[in-house]
Amino acid sequence: MKKTLFVLLLTVLFATFALAETVITVAAGAVGQELELAKDAAAKYMDMHPGVTVNVLETPDLATDRLGLYLQFFEAESPEVDVYMIDTIWPGDLAAHLVDLYQFDGVKELVDTMFPAMVENDTVDGKLVAIPWFTDAGLLYYRKDLLEKYGLEVPKTWDDLENAAKIIMDGEKKDNPDFWGFVWQGDAYEGLTCDALEWIVSNGGGTIISTDKEITIANEKAAEIIDKAAGWVGTISPNGVVGMPEEGARAVWQAGNAVFMRNWPYAYSLSNAEDSAVAGKFGVSPLPAGDSGRGAAALGGWQLAVSKYSENPEIAVDVALYLAGYESQKNRAIVGSLNPTIEALYQDPEVLEATPIFGELYDVFVNAVPRPSTVSAPNYNEVSTAFFQAVHSVLTGVETDTMAALEELALDLEDITGFEIIW
Ligand code: GLC
Repeated sequence: MKKTLFVLLLTVLFATFALAETVITVAAGAVGQELELAKDAAAKYMDMHPGVTVNVLETPDLATDRLGLYLQFFEAESPEVDVYMIDTIWPGDLAAHLVDLYQFDGVKELVDTMFPAMVENDTVDGKLVAIPWFTDAGLLYYRKDLLEKYGLEVPKTWDDLENAAKIIMDGEKKDNPDFWGFVWQGDAYEGLTCDALEWIVSNGGGTIISTDKEITIANEKAAEIIDKAAGWVGTISPNGVVGMPEEGARAVWQAGNAVFMRNWPYAYSLSNAEDSAVAGKFGVSPLPAGDSGRGAAALGGWQLAVSKYSENPEIAVDVALYLAGYESQKNRAIVGSLNPTIEALYQDPEVLEATPIFGELYDVFVNAVPRPSTVSAPNYNEVSTAFFQAVHSVLTGVETDTMAALEELALDLEDITGFEIIW
């Protein structure tokens, strides 16, 4: 009798516990301070919602690897992850696995405070598949102190950048053999798609695939600037740049071993942190121009999406709304220099004081160039993979005829998308 009572008690206890404790798992990034910031916000949410545990799952740094992991969860229709942090290029590719957030209370009110283009980007066939969380644009980080020391200006063109990098490297390498001119994202992954798109757009070579579904990549302007970038490898950029992602570039830069770095805004607050050799010594500007006469920034950024396979979609949406809400975005902007998606935060004095580039480079952020993800969905990842592999083969010297590499790429893109090639 006693034993039965004990078992009964245990069952009741367990049931109460199980009922009270909803676990929401958020797949988040760990580049820079992202993981700590997500965990912080999760802790705050849990304080306000004692019945909910929010687990933050760390995912690979490289967008391409992260997508690979997500696809495994989605293919298994796994309920293990409720909220996914998804790249700005993935809504179309992943829509089939995501809930329509417009069905949930509070979502429309929040996204109405965000940049309409970002909300539009996350809308697939009228369904809102993700809430814009932070946005990104490619920027040029430069060493103010060194440009001054050598009497040089902030480069406005790629030629200026090459020139300044060479002069400063020649001078600095004498004391510091590890010193380089320019670090960027040359590894074979999504980051290279962003960097190469910036070069090509800045040179008037189009956006790989146009919004009118034309494959435009096989053109001289594109070939010319990719060749130029290939010339940086081993001269102004270390040979290892062809294996370098964002964090690799930041490590070289933050140790004080580069004049220039191409990176996203997250590197701003870290570069100014106490442990950074470049704190207070650098500036940030738009990326240099090529033949088009204007620099171009790739549009990046991350969104929060809720899985169709989540067992607790309502609570998952509530967590996403909190993470992407005003207070949480404000904190991320101040502590992590992660660009808000809520327009009003660009006028918030505390945000602008902590991260002045949000005001100074506002035009860069709102004019950033999207990758051709909407037009090629659900095949964007294949398109991008073909593109970064082709560019990488030129950077590493595997392919020496750049125009031929781009023509071959155009044929691959035709197979993937069925779009027409403009020769
Ligand atoms: C940043 C951008 C993202 C991009 C990635 C490439 O995380 O926000 O959009 O795909 O970099 O490395």
